[in-house]
Amino acid sequence: MNITSADFYISNSRADQCPIDAIAKPEYAFIGRSNVGKSSLINMLTRKKALAKTSATPGKTQLINHFIINNEWYLVDLPGYGYAKRGKRETQKLTQLITHYICGREQLTSLFVLIDSRLEPQKIDLEFIEWLGEEGVPFAIIFTKADKNKAGQLRHNVEAFLRRLSEQWEELPPHFISSAERGTGRDDILGYIDSINKSMTTAD
Ligand code: GTP
Ligand code: MG
Repeated sequence: MNITSADFYISNSRADQCPIDAIAKPEYAFIGRSNVGKSSLINMLTRKKALAKTSATPGKTQLINHFIINNEWYLVDLPGYGYAKRGKRETQKLTQLITHYICGREQLTSLFVLIDSRLEPQKIDLEFIEWLGEEGVPFAIIFTKADKNKAGQLRHNVEAFLRRLSEQWEELPPHFISSAERGTGRDDILGYIDSINKSMTTAD
């Protein structure tokens, strides 16, 4: 798929204030632990380095950020979960924001759950995915920061994570490997979004 335009649309601190279009546009949102690379991935996919704000320190994205792509669909940058240094009230507020968006947003077509490919399977990610299953939220997985792995480590971690998932799921969700640094995974992820967008127009 060709991205011909990618622009910031709106930021919201409440899920019920997200955009309402006369004809609903499909949304693809990015979630995962703070610092996993959600905002960087949006910039890589759109090839706009400063579209979504990134930071070397966790906790940067605190709002729901909509970016309009080709005037037809949205990429949505969400705050991360699991940042230990956040205060209790702030954590609660963000958890509520994320939960309301994920469970209440009808336009949410697919949620991308980002997993740091450098790490062994993390309990917080597995529990989050289990919760998505309970809520019936459609999702795919993206293993991020592939460029940061030593030889063999990437495959080891990805396989270990998928093995853990197959204990919970009969069928594995779609999954991708990405590097925002090198552009790895861009074609596959955009191709996946494109195929869903096309299936939605033919289903109308
Ligand atoms: P929060 O908004 O705080 O939840 O974080 P985030 O998930 O949006 O992460 P962000 O995109 O801000 O990236 C965090 C850090 O990881 C930044 O320093 C990025 O440059 C770095 N980073 C993200 N993706 C990659 C990648 O694929 N490769 C490398 N080497 N670094 C990456
Ligand atoms: Mg971010």
